[in-house]
Amino acid sequence: MMSLSKPFTIINFIFLSNLLVSPTLTLSQCRDSCGTIPINYPFALDDGCGAPQFRHMFNCSTDLFFLTPSGSYKVQSINYDKKTIIVYDPAMSTCSILQPHHDFLMTDIQSALIPPTSDTVFALLNCSIDSPVLNHYSYLCFNFSSHSCDELYGSCNAFRVFHLAANTTSPPCCFTGYDTVKFMSMNVLDCTHYTTVTNTDGLRGIGPLDWVYGIKMSFAVPDSGCERCVQSGGTCGFDTETEGSLCLCSSSSNYTRECAVGSFTAGANGVTSSILLQAFFVIVLIYQLFCPL
Ligand SMILES: *[C@@H]1O[C@H](CO)[C@@H](O)[C@H](O)[C@H]1NC(C)=O
Ligand SMILES: *[C@@H]1O[C@H](CO)[C@@H](O)[C@H](O)[C@H]1NC(C)=O
Ligand SMILES: *[C@@H]1O[C@H](CO)[C@@H](O)[C@H](O)[C@H]1NC(C)=O
Ligand SMILES: *[C@@H]1O[C@H](CO)[C@@H](O)[C@H](O)[C@H]1NC(C)=O
Ligand SMILES: *[C@@H]1O[C@H](CO)[C@@H](O)[C@H](O)[C@H]1NC(C)=O
Repeated sequence: MMSLSKPFTIINFIFLSNLLVSPTLTLSQCRDSCGTIPINYPFALDDGCGAPQFRHMFNCSTDLFFLTPSGSYKVQSINYDKKTIIVYDPAMSTCSILQPHHDFLMTDIQSALIPPTSDTVFALLNCSIDSPVLNHYSYLCFNFSSHSCDELYGSCNAFRVFHLAANTTSPPCCFTGYDTVKFMSMNVLDCTHYTTVTNTDGLRGIGPLDWVYGIKMSFAVPDSGCERCVQSGGTCGFDTETEGSLCLCSSSSNYTRECAVGSFTAGANGVTSSILLQAFFVIVLIYQLFCPL
């Protein structure tokens, strides 16, 4: 031990500083959660992370929000196995609160990549008798799991006002799918309020008070070799100029496909290489202890 030669001391210093620095650098460029909701590929909060197709769609202020042309929708949950996400429009009516309608609008890219699922039902309330869904487009309305609109008016405090006002018959209402509101604005539909109910396939025999109000959307994950990058210790991202795929390995190194495993060259601070570094450091230490020069 007394016979430590100068080169080894320098090498030790380099490895030690590398070990101390690398854990803080690793993966620090992309936030991986917002509150309690995990943010994984293809989604991201930071530009250059995730898949470019989903760029600028989320905002993590206090909570996670899904951004569309009609506003910010609070994200309730994301299921990465089933590839679904449930959002909630804080401005819409539900069984317990009556709020004036506003349109639910998505960009063309959002409609294509992350459309509402077929078990999300849009309930258009207090429609005028001239509404297209009561006339030419009446075939767009349906009853789901044996529920009718009248049940909504009857069971929900918020909607009872429609019952009372009309006295004899409640004003028309329509359960319909996303495509209807995609192609006809609420003004065209001529209904004053709306609500959305999700998981409608499982609501047979369950009353409106216990329905799940929200919009469930299904997303597709672009196939860009992300698994290979993750396995090498990186995070999937893209070049913000060209939108070409990148594997983000540390704040100082991006690779096209995967992190350069086992390369000790500048900047290769991925998880795997830092483990290899530690192993190498231990070997050097043992070598010095038992085989002094
Ligand atoms: C790596 O890519 C990210 C996302 O595009 C970018 O913000 C960062 O500056 C890049 N880092 C380097 C060293 O190129
Ligand atoms: C994020 O969402 C919140 C809540 O809707 C909003 O107030 C804020 O302006 C949004 N920020 C950005 C950058 O879009
Ligand atoms: C229901 O719709 C009519 C117009 O069709 C409107 O005058 C009325 O205020 C609406 N009811 C409520 C409670 O908003
Ligand atoms: C829905 O149910 C109500 C009440 O049971 C019924 O009057 C109405 O015709 C049904 N509508 C459709 C589209 O099946
Ligand atoms: C409802 O009808 C009853 C009797 O048919 C009538 O006395 C009452 O004034 C009506 N209420 C409204 C709000 O039209």
